[in-house]
Amino acid sequence: MSAQRIAVIPGDGIGVDVIESARAVLDAVCAKHRIELEYREFDWSCQRYEREGAMMPADGLDMLREFDAILLGAVGWPGVPDHVSLWGLLIPIRRTFRQYVNLRPIRVFRGVQSPLRGAEDVDFVVVRENIEGEYSEIGGRLNRGFPEEMAVQESVFTRAGVSRIADYAFELAQTRRGYVTSATKSNGIVHTLPFWDEVVAERSARYPDVRIDSEHIDALAAKFVLQPSRFDVVVASNLFGDILSDLAAAVAGSIGIAPSANLDPTKQYPSMFEPVHGSAPDIAGRGIANPVGAVWSAAMMLSHLGHHAAADDVLAAMTASLADPSTRTADLGGTASTAQVTGALVAALA
Ligand code: NAI
Ligand code: MG
Repeated sequence: MSAQRIAVIPGDGIGVDVIESARAVLDAVCAKHRIELEYREFDWSCQRYEREGAMMPADGLDMLREFDAILLGAVGWPGVPDHVSLWGLLIPIRRTFRQYVNLRPIRVFRGVQSPLRGAEDVDFVVVRENIEGEYSEIGGRLNRGFPEEMAVQESVFTRAGVSRIADYAFELAQTRRGYVTSATKSNGIVHTLPFWDEVVAERSARYPDVRIDSEHIDALAAKFVLQPSRFDVVVASNLFGDILSDLAAAVAGSIGIAPSANLDPTKQYPSMFEPVHGSAPDIAGRGIANPVGAVWSAAMMLSHLGHHAAADDVLAAMTASLADPSTRTADLGGTASTAQVTGALVAALA
């Protein structure tokens, strides 16, 4: 097999540190498993925006198209509005490359303190719809500056979009504990969410081996806090999934360990892997960022590229490093630096 090609976008702030760490871990595990990856790094970031007026070049998306996967750190920096960094880079990548699944696994690891009591067995995955729903560009503003000023934003739910995200969730559940929870609000939102419920129920009929519950988003948020270990796969629309996955990351103890994947499961386009956290300007440049979220994201990338044994190895190394107090970063109550954690992970994979 020829080398698989990875586009690397470290981005801003601690994005740069955690991607350096993920690259070191990838080098170690790929050497061990004789996997050939070829990297090309792009400096697309808020710094580039301040220098050249755009987060990425005009043909940036075409440049990415030929890669097998994209590994991203984080983008965002004080002085550049957050909607610029988001809509100038991340959202165009997700949409152009039909990355309709946003996958966020949540686990409470030994050695990581969840803010909740009785959360030791938490192990679930949030499957968020990533390219339609509430995050639509359809809408507008009218009567600017007048008392009647108004804003309208349409939610867009398509049969194709809901079906494929539901199918992804059911198929994922078949490889896990066989239980899907669908987030809804069909009692209050009377058009789109009853449609979501209908299509999810229709698709669920094809997976008789998977149990399904439908829960209103408000009650579901409460259950994430009260009974987080009951969940296996949670499927949700774009906005609901966004909120639930941050809540879930908090349940897991630190945003510094949370990974995510933006997937085109058809593999027609490159998928993108990134830690959930942002660029953390408050700790940037201090060498103390937790690299685990980025490393776990890199493991998800290995899995997506077909290297399951290598991904399992990275997860095992991570689990061991989190269990050891001497390799925990400050966000987990430890004193280890990013480089020390990386060194331990690389040593474990040698
Ligand atoms: P953030 O995730 O960067 O930081 C939130 C808090 O968590 C901070 O106190 C930070 O120090 C801490 N933290 C985050 N990651 C950590 C890690 N790996 N190790 C240790 N501590 C960590 O979120 P914030 O502050 O709201 O946003 C900062 C910038 O990042 C903004 O410009 C925002 O737009 C951007 N952002 C970008 C994202 C992306 O690229 N996907 C996602 C979230 C935010
Ligand atoms: Mg979010």
